[in-house]
Amino acid sequence: MKILGIETSCDETAASIVKDGREIISNVVASSSDLHKKTGGIIPEVAAREQLRCIIPVIEEALGQKINKKNPDIDAVAVTSGPGLIGSLLIGVETAKTLAYIFKKPIIPVNHLQGHLYANFLSKGKPTFPALGLVVSGGHTDLVLILDHQKIKWLGGTRDDAAGECFDKCARLLGLGYPGGPTISKEAQEFDKKERNITLPRPMINTSDFDFSFSGLKTAVLNKTRELKEKDKLNKKIIQELAFEIQEAICDVLVKKTIKATEKYEVKSLLLAGGVTANPKLREKIKEEIDPKVNLFIPPPSLCTDNATYIAAYAYFNFRPKPWSKIKADSSLTIEEMIK
Ligand code: KG4
Ligand code: ZN
Repeated sequence: MKILGIETSCDETAASIVKDGREIISNVVASSSDLHKKTGGIIPEVAAREQLRCIIPVIEEALGQKINKKNPDIDAVAVTSGPGLIGSLLIGVETAKTLAYIFKKPIIPVNHLQGHLYANFLSKGKPTFPALGLVVSGGHTDLVLILDHQKIKWLGGTRDDAAGECFDKCARLLGLGYPGGPTISKEAQEFDKKERNITLPRPMINTSDFDFSFSGLKTAVLNKTRELKEKDKLNKKIIQELAFEIQEAICDVLVKKTIKATEKYEVKSLLLAGGVTANPKLREKIKEEIDPKVNLFIPPPSLCTDNATYIAAYAYFNFRPKPWSKIKADSSLTIEEMIK
């Protein structure tokens, strides 16, 4: 079965065809992040306008043909219906509904956060349940227990900023570019850890729950950069050191809580998902700490950040079409919510 996936929840316009939930036939992503670099973050109106400009060319490239030519070789359409920026979501959802109608194909709405986890089904092995899922993106930090397809239990999540948001905001404080995860990671690599002097907090690292908090770390970076600026000491080397320590702090908290949850729930697999899991340090630390008996799945970096392959994969493994007229964009879906 070939499914056309469409993803427009934030600042990426993406379309992909995936065969039987595992084989990527096409994967096209247009990102408006260059526009957001200028403003240091996403302006939803700007992101939505870019979605509108890109959606048809991106889908046509993924299909390998113009939409108004013969019906394409697909069996269904899948689309992210939430959560995300409402203006961006609407472009994908309404386009997908129209295509399903004109192609006379079933349509499956997909929860973006659950979708992220299915990037792990596009790899060689196949995750076994029960599995633990860590979804860390620009807007979300969630730990979930996956008992089976359609059976997701939320264990904990961030009480304030998401991990990706913390990377993005700290990068802005350091004068580094958007998105902050890759720019902080790049600067951190330049730092020699033997010269480490600065220590930042690791909020909630030892609490017994599975919640996270990253706003205190951001405030600590704000205070530190202010202090250094006043003394005229915020130079390239200190920025690299701060980048290193920010990355360490975020990864330490994510890894500690994730490993604790794998032990408590005695899971067979651990699935990492979301843009932040493209981070090399996080990938390295989790590989070091995980019990070898647990099957670890980490998507290749290009499938961690937003794209439509995992939306199509999710729809294959959770094939629940809905009448197109009943599908609505929902900006505030939670990770546990099944789309009814
Ligand atoms: O999953 P994603 O592409 O979009 C959302 O659903 O939010 O995640 C975007 C987030 C951004 O906050 C970005 O800074 C972060 O993922 N990110 C990274 C890396 N690449 C992207 N964070 C840390 N290290 C990276 N290499
Ligand atoms: Zn995402």
